[in-house]
Amino acid sequence: MAHLWSGRFEGGPDAALFEFGASFGFDRRLFEDDVAGSLAWAQALSAAGVLSREEAHSIRTALEDIRQRGQDPAFFMSEASRSDEDVHSFVERELVQRVGDAGRRLHTGRSRNEQVALDLRLYLKRRVPVIQQRIAALVAVLADQSDASGAALMPSYTHLRRAQPILAAHFFLAHAAALRRDHVRFRSLLDEIDELPLGSGAIAGTSYAIDVRTLADHLGFSRVVANSIDATGERDFVSSFLHAAALTMVHVSRMAEDFILFTSEEFGFFELADTAATGSSLMPQKKNPDPLELVRGKTGRVIGRLTGWLATMKGLPIGYSKDLQEDKEAVFEAEDTVRNSLDATAAVIAGLTLNGNVTATAASGLLLATDVADYLVGKGVPFRDAHEIVGALVRRLVREARSFDSLTLDEWRAHSALFDADVTESVTAAASVGRKRTPQSTHPDAVRAALADVRAWLASVRQ
Ligand code: ARG
Repeated sequence: MAHLWSGRFEGGPDAALFEFGASFGFDRRLFEDDVAGSLAWAQALSAAGVLSREEAHSIRTALEDIRQRGQDPAFFMSEASRSDEDVHSFVERELVQRVGDAGRRLHTGRSRNEQVALDLRLYLKRRVPVIQQRIAALVAVLADQSDASGAALMPSYTHLRRAQPILAAHFFLAHAAALRRDHVRFRSLLDEIDELPLGSGAIAGTSYAIDVRTLADHLGFSRVVANSIDATGERDFVSSFLHAAALTMVHVSRMAEDFILFTSEEFGFFELADTAATGSSLMPQKKNPDPLELVRGKTGRVIGRLTGWLATMKGLPIGYSKDLQEDKEAVFEAEDTVRNSLDATAAVIAGLTLNGNVTATAASGLLLATDVADYLVGKGVPFRDAHEIVGALVRRLVREARSFDSLTLDEWRAHSALFDADVTESVTAAASVGRKRTPQSTHPDAVRAALADVRAWLASVRQ
């Protein structure tokens, strides 16, 4: 079997070692991008006078045919393709098979080192917007749930201890806020990859009169890389992609954790749709949140891909090394995992039902203590003193297993003479959220405006 580099060697490579080094098993995914890059390169070579018009034409026709054939997965399974080292060798062999010598000229002045850097950039340009769409779809589900929960109250938590009452609508939008940042992070990755690496050759540049600006335009890049050595040996955009994917996973994982907890018997705040849960083979009562647990669990592999990739990069001398071939499996696995996890999370959250009575009950009680302190502040008490007075009151209520609403006016006054009859109506969960003033707060008007803002953002990113 002949390889792209066979001329230098007396015999063929050891079969097992060849197998070890081959990437065709997974870089097939770059097929479309490799063909696109070769079509543009043929045009550039023809403009540079390296290929005749006829040669360029026959290469283009053959590459179009190859692209067409690639629609069928069987195309990649042929006997001949078993000796292809990678997707670049595969396309070149198919091309030479069709047009002979003209095909053998296509690699003039071009190296697989820049080709693979180009292909991965083109691939991510296509695939990152798909992830962004799925992020937006999950944000839309959170916005719908926020809308549907209306004025429902629930407790918020810090240290996983009841903190302060909030609107359930506000809680849903908290998760949406994190996802919007992920969307922006992927957007800036698209800007980072927007540079054409072709013209870099294997490392030192190319000796042919390639017009890289025009080539960049043809391939949809707005800039050309600054340095051929850097361009062929760097994969910062892979690290950025893996980071964006890992952080998105961290966000869906935290969401999953919230709903695993909040749909449990202990909380009972939400009910999982039957379609989003699984049973136990042994315990008939069980309704397990498996999809959410898997989302939480799979986060580990994407974080692993990011840290693994950084470890791969850290010892590499500048310029291309074969270690860089590891980029593709990292990208593909992270991409599949984040996309599937976003979809699964959206499906589960879309089916949740809020148990408004349970959340309202949980949102009243001692978590109104800050509001009692604020009441005293309203009467002129310094906050620190108010905190102390209410702390003592809470200690007593805990001891007596009671809550604020059971206190008589005399009992209130035993703690501070400043308490009046209006204290009872001011110390409720609804009054508490209604007192919040800032635009990022849980005040119903602020939440309504925040929801409108999310909807407007969705409309802007979806057009
Ligand atoms: N399959 C290789 C990779 O993924 C393509 C580049 C190969 N370059 C080389 N000089 N062997 O990185």
